[in-house]
Amino acid sequence: MNNFIYDVPTKIYFGENAVDNLNTEIKNYGKRVLLCYGGGSIKKSGLYDTVIAQLKKAQCEVFELGGIEPNPRIDSVREGAKICKKENIDVLLAVGGGSTLDCTKWIAAAAKVDHDAWDFFSKWADVDSALPVLTVLTLSATGSEMNCGGVISNLETKDKIGRLARPLLPKASFLDPTLTYSVSKYQTACGSADIMSHILEVYFAPTQDMYMLDCFMEGLMKTVIKYTPVALDNPSDYEARANLMWASSWAINGFVKAGKQHEWSCHPLEHELSAIYDITHGLGLAILTPRFLRYCLNEKNVDKYVQFGVNVFDIDKSLPKMEIANLAIDKLADFFFNTLSLDDTFTKVGIKREDFKLMAQKACEGGTIHGFVDLDAKDIEKIFEMCI
Ligand code: NZQ
Ligand code: ZN
Repeated sequence: MNNFIYDVPTKIYFGENAVDNLNTEIKNYGKRVLLCYGGGSIKKSGLYDTVIAQLKKAQCEVFELGGIEPNPRIDSVREGAKICKKENIDVLLAVGGGSTLDCTKWIAAAAKVDHDAWDFFSKWADVDSALPVLTVLTLSATGSEMNCGGVISNLETKDKIGRLARPLLPKASFLDPTLTYSVSKYQTACGSADIMSHILEVYFAPTQDMYMLDCFMEGLMKTVIKYTPVALDNPSDYEARANLMWASSWAINGFVKAGKQHEWSCHPLEHELSAIYDITHGLGLAILTPRFLRYCLNEKNVDKYVQFGVNVFDIDKSLPKMEIANLAIDKLADFFFNTLSLDDTFTKVGIKREDFKLMAQKACEGGTIHGFVDLDAKDIEKIFEMCI
């Protein structure tokens, strides 16, 4: 394994009423606040009022950017940056799911530069600094609350691009599992598929494993498999929501990938689906991941699948290796499509063969994804074909 530095200083307030600490925390960053949120779920749940009361208590002057879209758009980033500059904003507060958090992070960066916000993605413009960001998470999925990533879509160019930049790391995040009680069954399922994918992208790696981290990832996956059905049956089950929430953060806060430097495979493929069809991120990953694993399986890498099947799904380890590997993929598919009731094919979600070539080219940027198994555009088209 490679050497690494682990340095994630996001302060986490976890548990019921965690948001009660917002008024004291935000004082560390200033008085002029841009409150960012999505399409209205926080108004329906009453969280908006709670947050405003906290900001009033801290004597903040509040400006707002609502209506941030799922698969957030570059136009929202531009709009937010404009407000930050005009109103001399000190600190941004994102309240919502990953889309709101991602958009807010990029607003924080765009507020510090004179160029267009899309240059961060099209020209890989430097991200030297950003305004401080605090988050109140309402959906367990992306881990955006504890990492420095953000994914933004551009409808004009039909691109959806993610990028990591250290200045975007939230200063503090408020994680109250009760705020996820109102998440729909569909979004809960998609969120869990996303968490599983974040772990699998790292677990199935070409580099040598660290046993301790593999055990940790297996524990996280078992947590998602155990508690998602509980949350689907009873949306207000605190244990289930709390386990999913904390698992979502730890799946993608840099901890499990320490020592492993490799590209992710299913995420770049999925981003192309979302870019063209605007589908939910976790749904695209659920359809792709079992096919990706089936496509990559061979005699050389079968042991990793065996480890996954035996340790995560309790498959009988005395069976032949290839049988265990295929059973493990079947069980993962069964979790996504039967337990979580997610659609299992591209056809069902309207993704058409005519776009495969373009999406495959863009996913690997005309080259090769050096992930668990090297994938070029032809390989990716074949995986898409398996999803139809
Ligand atoms: O917009 P509102 O009204 O808030 O409704 C949202 C939205 O419609 C709703 N929702 C959120 N919390 C809710 C709720 N509804 C009821 N009760 C609540 N408590 O759920 C819908 C989806 O929200 P969204 O934020 O889009 O979902 P998610 O958290 O899955 O975020 C997905 C985005 O994050 C990116 C994805 O690509 C996608 O754009 N990702 C970000 C990553 C990161 N920053 O590290 C990594 C991920 O791999 C991912 O790519
Ligand atoms: Zn994801």
